[in-house]
Amino acid sequence: MLFTIDPESCARDGLCAAVCPLGCIEWESGGLPAPHDRKSAYCIQCGHCVAVCPHGALRLDHFDEGQVPLDRSLKPTAQQVEQLLRGRRSMRAFKPEPPDREQVARLLDLTQYAPSGHNARPVGWVVAPDAAAVRRVAEAVVTWMRAEVEAETPLAEALHLAGLVRAFDAGVDLICRDAPMLAVAHVPARGITPMEDGVIAVTYLELAAAGAGLGACWCGYLCAAARHDPAVLRLLGVPEGHALGGALMLGRPARRFAAAPPRPKADISWL
Ligand SMILES: Cc1cc2nc3c(=O)[nH]c(=O)nc-3n(C[C@H](O)[C@H](O)[C@H](O)COP(=O)(O)O)c2cc1C
Repeated sequence: MLFTIDPESCARDGLCAAVCPLGCIEWESGGLPAPHDRKSAYCIQCGHCVAVCPHGALRLDHFDEGQVPLDRSLKPTAQQVEQLLRGRRSMRAFKPEPPDREQVARLLDLTQYAPSGHNARPVGWVVAPDAAAVRRVAEAVVTWMRAEVEAETPLAEALHLAGLVRAFDAGVDLICRDAPMLAVAHVPARGITPMEDGVIAVTYLELAAAGAGLGACWCGYLCAAARHDPAVLRLLGVPEGHALGGALMLGRPARRFAAAPPRPKADISWL
């Protein structure tokens, strides 16, 4: 079966059928909802049918749990959301002690709530959990950079790789910023929208980290290295056929921002 209805609590209001994006639920006024003969095969397990029911009457058979309660009294105000979005900054200075692994695992679990094409949620994570592991990743990136510099590639010039390598050799890590943790998202090379899903998941993690008081910063040089050098993917243990979706340095912030920086207004045309 696709889902189970508790006939005692079902109000026969058809909300579950109305909210299903793929029309998988059949419902006639006053009746119990039922899986659609043909379309139920299209179910993407988004769980909207579960979440919309005010009575918790529907469970998707795919999952062990039903509704996940939301405490409405904790709903952030528009101002609080704005504060989070304006106040998040890329953090490039970290305290040496890595963040708590359980806390980070919880933040990574939250990324399962990020939107993804067809709700495919194709993102997997590799976490370098301490400064030594992050250092090994940075070294692999520098190995790739060195080769690009020696070959005098256009990319080496465009990304100023020579300077980054020189700094690294002089003890300044501009690649991973001496972060004590690194979360790397990987996605299957083929799929519905894997690259978008990876970027969105990393963005969810970045915002969740900001909300939890952790510092985070995209590790763009790692992403570039992984696109060009399979050795980087191998070091990370990224599964065969997967590509990097994004990477985030993580740690307890060693700096505070007193305010938000200026930003121009959005470039909008109303069609
Ligand atoms: C795809 C991507 C790659 C990035 N790569 C790096 C990076 O390698 N190193 C770094 O210090 N910042 C990196 N950043 C952070 C940007 O520089 C930063 O988001 C931008 O300057 C705006 O600052 P803010 O995030 O504090 O608002 C990256 C950001 C994105 C979205």
